[in-house]
Amino acid sequence: MKNTTHEIRQKFLDFFKEKGHSILPGDSLIPKNDSTLLFTNAGMNQFKDFFLGKKQKNYSRIATVQNCLRTGGKHNDLENVGYTERHHTFFEMLGNFSFDDYFKKEAIMYAWELLTSKKWFNLDKNKLWISVYENDIETYKIWKNIIKVPIEKIIKIGDKNNIKYNSDNFWQMGNTGPCGPSTEIFYQFKIDYTQTTQELFNNNNCLLEIWNIVFIEFNRISNTEIIPLAKKSIDTGMGLERIASVLQNVNSNYKIDIFQELIKKISYFSNIENLNNISLKIVADHIRAIFFLISEDITPSNEHRGYILRRIIRRTLRHAYKIGINQNFFYKIIPKLIKLINIPSGILKEKEKIIQKILKKEELQFSQTLNKGLKILNQEVKKISNNIISGKTAFYLYDTFGFPIDLTKDICRERGIKIDLDDYNKYKNEQKKQSNIRKKFYKNYNQDIIINDRSVFCGYKKNRIKSLIKYIFVENKAVSSISENQLGIIFLDKTCFYPESGGQIGDIGKLYFKKTCFLVENTQNFGNMIGHIGKVISGTIKEKSTIYCKIDKIHRNSIQLNHSATHLLHAALQKILGNNALQKGSLVSNTHLRFDFSYTKNINFSQIHKIENVINEEIRNNHLIKTKNLNIEEAKRNKAIALFDHKYNNIVRVVFIKDFSIELCGGTHTNRTGKIGIFKIIGQSNVSSGIKRIEALTGQYAINYLHYQDTLIKDISLILKSNNSDIQEKIKNLILKVKNLEKKADQLQNKENTNQIKKLLKKVDNIKNIKLLTHILHKYDQKSVRIIVDQLKKELKNAIIILINKINNSYTINCGVTKNLTHSITAIDIVNIFIKETQGKGGGKKEIAEGGGMNNAKLPIIVKNIKQWITEKLKNNIF
Ligand code: SER
Repeated sequence: MKNTTHEIRQKFLDFFKEKGHSILPGDSLIPKNDSTLLFTNAGMNQFKDFFLGKKQKNYSRIATVQNCLRTGGKHNDLENVGYTERHHTFFEMLGNFSFDDYFKKEAIMYAWELLTSKKWFNLDKNKLWISVYENDIETYKIWKNIIKVPIEKIIKIGDKNNIKYNSDNFWQMGNTGPCGPSTEIFYQFKIDYTQTTQELFNNNNCLLEIWNIVFIEFNRISNTEIIPLAKKSIDTGMGLERIASVLQNVNSNYKIDIFQELIKKISYFSNIENLNNISLKIVADHIRAIFFLISEDITPSNEHRGYILRRIIRRTLRHAYKIGINQNFFYKIIPKLIKLINIPSGILKEKEKIIQKILKKEELQFSQTLNKGLKILNQEVKKISNNIISGKTAFYLYDTFGFPIDLTKDICRERGIKIDLDDYNKYKNEQKKQSNIRKKFYKNYNQDIIINDRSVFCGYKKNRIKSLIKYIFVENKAVSSISENQLGIIFLDKTCFYPESGGQIGDIGKLYFKKTCFLVENTQNFGNMIGHIGKVISGTIKEKSTIYCKIDKIHRNSIQLNHSATHLLHAALQKILGNNALQKGSLVSNTHLRFDFSYTKNINFSQIHKIENVINEEIRNNHLIKTKNLNIEEAKRNKAIALFDHKYNNIVRVVFIKDFSIELCGGTHTNRTGKIGIFKIIGQSNVSSGIKRIEALTGQYAINYLHYQDTLIKDISLILKSNNSDIQEKIKNLILKVKNLEKKADQLQNKENTNQIKKLLKKVDNIKNIKLLTHILHKYDQKSVRIIVDQLKKELKNAIIILINKINNSYTINCGVTKNLTHSITAIDIVNIFIKETQGKGGGKKEIAEGGGMNNAKLPIIVKNIKQWITEKLKNNIF
């Protein structure tokens, strides 16, 4: 019988427990208090300070199973994943550690015993090979004289490029930190005497490194400085997936039991039958990494750990699509795949939903650009003659289509093409520099610019005019010219760009003349001057020269629809809700409008519909929208809406939408209401007491929203197998059915619980006068386990109740301790014993606690020991 991966993990721990090691849980994937590491990449990370002698450990011998991620940082395997049979982003590392306790000899002897003894892994000694650090004579002698490995099977590995300690047999955690010479044990699947030791080691595929034993003797302070440590330690690491491939004799990590299950499931959703397919392997590997990263509360982003996650997700998506998993479908299969990942108990169940939500968002975002980017890359591939993609193209794919560089590398690798990485890095660094400058610029741009002058706004009627450049500011200082790539603010004598005011956002567009061009990204008022904020994209622009200014018409049109609709909304609110519904704030952008107004009562759905109806009717009436400059008194006579307690100039601009809406306004508007097309409220909320907020869409944005709603209803109908008209009825019936079923299920469960309690009461032990119940249930309803523990506590009064519920390969534990006993023994203490022994998780209080873990095989022995432990604890107490 082959060992399962779970059994191998357990055997490792059992072996080291027998050798006096404390078994501790692995650390989180995010190293605590260690800014030198992005992710935990080895079992020793959590013990860094103990190796360095900065902290004292309670135990001198430890063994752990550590979740590791080798993506980003010093140890980065991402690019190899899928292409070799061995590399993973995420993997589990088995490790034993000694702190100022045993050293070289024992560490080697333990490793040899575990690997070769019949009782443990029982590997053929002839298939094992050894490497040692060239200068480490002591280790060489241990292998040769004590373990008696033939010298032709021991290879000495020296420093590379004559740099001291730059060797495969000198392990370093990162650019700084504990380090030391190492000895590695290799496995040869098929004995081959035709090659020399050197040849075997040179050929990657011949020998599989299974165990790295590091003799921690030094601390690396910097690139050039390394100092000896006062105390010597042992740090060993054995990849669980690798040793499983050896013990299951499958010659590939991807062929071990846990990966095969996962790969089969993925292949089922794909159009691939060959389970050796690279993309299948990549998806299987990456899913585990994605799961564990999101479980550690990392979300995809453009920097730091979030970017590593994003890179892994994007690489997964490309490979998933490549093997025929439909676009925007991948996130849906996640729950099915997660079930196959080795997760302790049901505690992490809620993460499943979060992962799906995050992946859905990422997938929707990236699948849109993936195809476009691939097309561009294909075109580029056709053009090149030297099999090298330029850094510019790789950067364009990154910058515009969100292709992480390793994704582009991955695609190119499949086609035998390289990327000019130096060139790419040049673009990347330049972008970084620009983006820092930009951030600084936008943070400070309007600080101290005071110009005693006035610009004329011509943008009510014109979209493009010829102007004179009056002032140029760069970094808040007046300059006479601004050149390519510089960010700055340009002031003109007259402009058609509307500066942000009255809730309407500023215009965007360009200032240009012949080959010079300045991209306007925002327009703001600076006193009486209008500032065009942006960047020169070509040429040099000089003060006192002529320039054309041209707004982005599509952007402005969308703003105008929302601005005119805002006036319609304001008037409609006053008609329907009363004259007190007065504007308190507003935002008019190209994408939507937001309107805050005074109103104390709740607004119901039918009022919302009324408001929409009134506005849409005025839209269909296709009124002309006119503006007039009027004397303020005249405006009042026209009943124009305004904040008349505000100070206005004598002459005010009034916007008339027939006599439906007359309002003072400086903003820009469309010329006919019909152009708004459609008005749709999408949100209503309370901003503060007495102030309501309405958010709404117009034009194509409103149509898009309706399409989305439409699709949603259709999807629901499809799920319910009904037509749109009877979905409500169907949902109501379903809810009723579910409620009835739940009621019946509850009744049955209650009966079962009563019977179960009766059975359990017969199994109660007595320790002195205290009742102890320890029992293992099988796939019992988890909610009921909690209820049973509570009832037993009430019934037995003076008792400790431990109920274990086995569910496939995992278990949960629920523990209850009656209050009178909690000063000597607590429920959380008991749960901790279980989870420590099984790398589980849990929590709770003194009287009630629960947890869960894997390694069900260990349960009988823990149960046995726990009885003794409780007896000991209670021995000296009188109750
Ligand atoms: N730290 C070493 C490694 O990761 C041994 O655990 O290989």
